[in-house]
Amino acid sequence: MNIDWSKLTFHYTETDYIVRAACKNGVWERPYATRDKMIPIHAAATGLHYGQECFEGLKAFRGVDDKVRIFRMEENAKRMYHSAEGLLMTPVPVELFCEAILLALEKNIAFLPPYETGATLYFRPLLVATTPDISVGPGKDCEFVVVPTPIGPYFPNGFKGMPAIVNRTIDRAAPQGTGCWKVGGNYAASFRASEAAHAMGYECMFTDAKTHKYIDECTASNFIAIKQRSHLQGSAPTTAKRSTGVANLQRSDLTFEYLTPRSTAILPSITNDSLMTLAREMGMKVTRRHIRVEELADMQEAAACGTACVISPLTKVYDPDNDITYSFGDKPGPVLTKLYHALQDIQYGRTEDTHGWCLVVE
Ligand code: PLP
Ligand code: COI
Repeated sequence: MNIDWSKLTFHYTETDYIVRAACKNGVWERPYATRDKMIPIHAAATGLHYGQECFEGLKAFRGVDDKVRIFRMEENAKRMYHSAEGLLMTPVPVELFCEAILLALEKNIAFLPPYETGATLYFRPLLVATTPDISVGPGKDCEFVVVPTPIGPYFPNGFKGMPAIVNRTIDRAAPQGTGCWKVGGNYAASFRASEAAHAMGYECMFTDAKTHKYIDECTASNFIAIKQRSHLQGSAPTTAKRSTGVANLQRSDLTFEYLTPRSTAILPSITNDSLMTLAREMGMKVTRRHIRVEELADMQEAAACGTACVISPLTKVYDPDNDITYSFGDKPGPVLTKLYHALQDIQYGRTEDTHGWCLVVE
């Protein structure tokens, strides 16, 4: 094995083992590790024909103390359980999910990137319905696989910032559809929009499929924004962009609001949930509500957030239908920078994990 950790991007690099477990007639077998990366699947499997499959994504970090930390694994297990229920699949029990991740880590420990390389070991659990049936209906037998891979930054620019474009023409997920679950069909449905955005040099900002007025998600990640709320000396809320520096964050006369969309079509992000907790602890007001695209004018910082990208700040958002550009500056703003470091400090063991988010594997 000869991996240049610092050159890793968000692409698949083969490791020694995957972990598998099958469910037949409602009975799960114990997870086992195998070097064979091919999974035999019947050509008539409902997972292949009708898209009955869901997946997850979580990371293990090599910490400053050389210990290994897996971030909020049980939350991913629970989310996959809900995704499976949403597609009428046999869910993977939470304990089995966690056992499989730990086995995948143990068997591929040589692929866990060293501390300070910026790379991590990413686990991609996948659940696919294997019942051979051409009739349109759910199959109950399934295969659960954990595919580990060392990864680098999701976006080539990492924490440096990227531009996004508002998309109102291609919907990712319907308000009462599958957007709240991590199912493959949502991603396939988003490819036309994201590839069109990439061709123009942007990441894709998805709006709600019903009215196209509200922000749903940004790329395959949740959207978050920071708004400067008030000035205790009595002046009106400022709309001035990026008027604060990091040092000013300590000042008690400034308060910030952490905003993120409320929508039934978006994935409940574990990263976003963690950031909301940290933001509250930093004294910010945290609001989850419908966010109109035009409101970007009142926000000082904006970003995509998720396991893979952590926080990826937006430099600007272009609305092509109204020919308006909302600018957030070329450098990440102070509040998102502070949140980014707070989260990564927990993940890399540089600060106390007061929430019990990390499972430390010695
Ligand atoms: N939204 C979508 C569509 C995603 O695929 C992901 C990634 O899992 C997220 C948001 C972020 O979720 P999390 O923070 O749990 O990784
Ligand atoms: C994330 O984990 O942040 C994502 O955006 C998920 C994607 C790689 C499927």
